[in-house]
Amino acid sequence: MGTEDRPDPLGSVLQGIDHVEFWVGNARQAAHWYVWGMGFTPRATITSRPDRVSHVLTQGDIRLVVTGATHADSPVAAHVARHGDGVRTIGFLVDDVDIALTRAVEGGATVVHEPAPASDDRGYGRVAAVAAFGSVVHAFVEHREIVDEVPDAVRATIPPPGPDLPPVGLVAIDHVVGNVEADTLGEWVEHHRAVLGVHPLAEFGADVSTARSALRSVVLRDDSGRVTLPVNEPAEGTHQSQIQEFLDANDGPGIQHLAVRTDDIVATVAALTARGVALLELEPGYHEQAQERVGDVGTSWDELAAHGILVDRDVEGVLLQVFTEPMQDRPTLFVEVIQRRGATGFGAGNFAALFAAVEREQARRGNL
Ligand code: FE2
Repeated sequence: MGTEDRPDPLGSVLQGIDHVEFWVGNARQAAHWYVWGMGFTPRATITSRPDRVSHVLTQGDIRLVVTGATHADSPVAAHVARHGDGVRTIGFLVDDVDIALTRAVEGGATVVHEPAPASDDRGYGRVAAVAAFGSVVHAFVEHREIVDEVPDAVRATIPPPGPDLPPVGLVAIDHVVGNVEADTLGEWVEHHRAVLGVHPLAEFGADVSTARSALRSVVLRDDSGRVTLPVNEPAEGTHQSQIQEFLDANDGPGIQHLAVRTDDIVATVAALTARGVALLELEPGYHEQAQERVGDVGTSWDELAAHGILVDRDVEGVLLQVFTEPMQDRPTLFVEVIQRRGATGFGAGNFAALFAAVEREQARRGNL
């Protein structure tokens, strides 16, 4: 039986993205950044494992777990020494961890954590994890008993931010993007299809390039439409690809960006700017060209230009986006903020403008 007529190994097992976990050098300070800069609320502090502390932060339906080592022997410390601060885990919500893990292993996944009971600020559940690209892991998370009140044992030890900060208004994770090594994209697409049951939805070829940078990208999505995982690999360009720069800085594959949705990107950008979050600056003339390309989008072009917001249109509607500078000194993980007005794409019309902005940053770092 060929793969065409074999039932999908995972089908609709994935229920969404439960959380994203960062492994960082100083979890307390990184958590402050996500709270004060990005508008998250401290929800819990978990100290049940002696080698690490995890701060749980939430905003809308987004749940971030910021974890740091408390001891030199912790795998968290080794991970950070190699990769710098970044994403360790994408946690997928499932109904049954055993079923998800069994199917992932049948698809060729390597187990990182066997299913184990877990309790945190949400109650009681079970978690397992399998290896993804680089040092990233895909976790399966099952909730068996959900509590509303945060238990005393895990009460947040990060203070909430001051009352005068404008709300950022992030509502959900839109997509999570990985970078893998040159000529491995096809393998990773197959791996994810077999292990997570996600399918290629769109492909961007080497035409996605400027004179200096190029990449190939495949967008993977599950049947429910709740999990979207684009994966990039570097392609030949005249100068160093931004994907190759990431691979060098991260010492291997990893998560390049986290895209989070807002319902009002102008308010979100104003809030982020007021909170001191630096966004990538666009080329002069971007908005004149974009207006010609895209037409009326329901927000004044003066306002979009004033906030440095990128605009694109696909057959279904309009999307508005901004990109932060990297979240750490290594040019690795950054955050995208996206507002969708019908559009389901990824702003391919903005790739050239985005690359140009990234290349200016690369040039500033002397890496172009
Ligand atoms: Fe994106």
